Amino acid sequence: MKKYLVIGNPINHSQSPQLHNFWIKKNNIKAVFEKQKLESSDLKNLFLKIKNKEIEGANVTIPFKNEVISYLDELSHEAEETRSVNTIYLKDKKIIGHNTDIDGFSSAIQDTKFNVNGKKIFIIGAGGVVPSIIFSLMKMNASNIMITNRTIAKVKKLKEIFVNLTICEWGEIPQFDMIINATSVGLNNNEEINLDLSKIENEKFFYDVIYNPKETNFLKNAKSMGNRVENGKRMFIHQAAAAFKIWHGIQPEINDEVLKVLDQ
Ligand code: ATR
Repeated sequence: MKKYLVIGNPINHSQSPQLHNFWIKKNNIKAVFEKQKLESSDLKNLFLKIKNKEIEGANVTIPFKNEVISYLDELSHEAEETRSVNTIYLKDKKIIGHNTDIDGFSSAIQDTKFNVNGKKIFIIGAGGVVPSIIFSLMKMNASNIMITNRTIAKVKKLKEIFVNLTICEWGEIPQFDMIINATSVGLNNNEEINLDLSKIENEKFFYDVIYNPKETNFLKNAKSMGNRVENGKRMFIHQAAAAFKIWHGIQPEINDEVLKVLDQ
């Protein structure tokens, strides 16, 4: 039985096992997908197990997306550009790190039919998934990518990688077509970002990377003001599907049944 893992800390919230095990079963693959909470000091041992094929592949989540890089033999172009790895696999005895968050985000936005080309995008937050979102928005030809974060030093770091970013002070709300909540605020019900978004004209596109809960206050408020909203569920599913394709060589189906798996 082949074994796959998602690693992170915390890891309890991760729905990757539900999703991957559902697709594994659907496609009659002899494998199992588990989640594992790790400390940094456990990484070395994990990579030994991958090298020995005790573990066939792994997804990586917060806070290890950057830290795992030093254990890898090779990075894909996307992982290299974002310094962020969410999918690990073995190829010709080399451990490769790839980033499927980028395609996950692009595919999710394509599903919504929102055309990023020429649009002004405002990102709130500078955590683990943000480099992938920026890279994806650049590939989709956003005209301007603006970013703010409570801790300004983190956006300054991002600007070292993505030199065209426009940094906004925390509290400054620029003109935009699409706004993305990439902070962890909203993961716990009733949390609210302390930014005043009430003066934004309606008919903007509000996107929240969070998908559990389904509707954060960020989306709830935006909707009540007449904006278009979308949560991160499809991004999560698309990044998982891309990882599944790498590991098993099969493009898994994304349909209503799959969407329901995550509601359980
Ligand atoms: P990590 O920072 O370890 O990558 P993350 O969950 O990917 O973790 O990122 C958390 C993001 O949510 C960060 O942008 C964080 O802002 P700071 O860099 O200032 O910590 C943001 N965040 C978390 N709690 C917040 C809060 N109460 N208000 C505003 N931003 C918050």
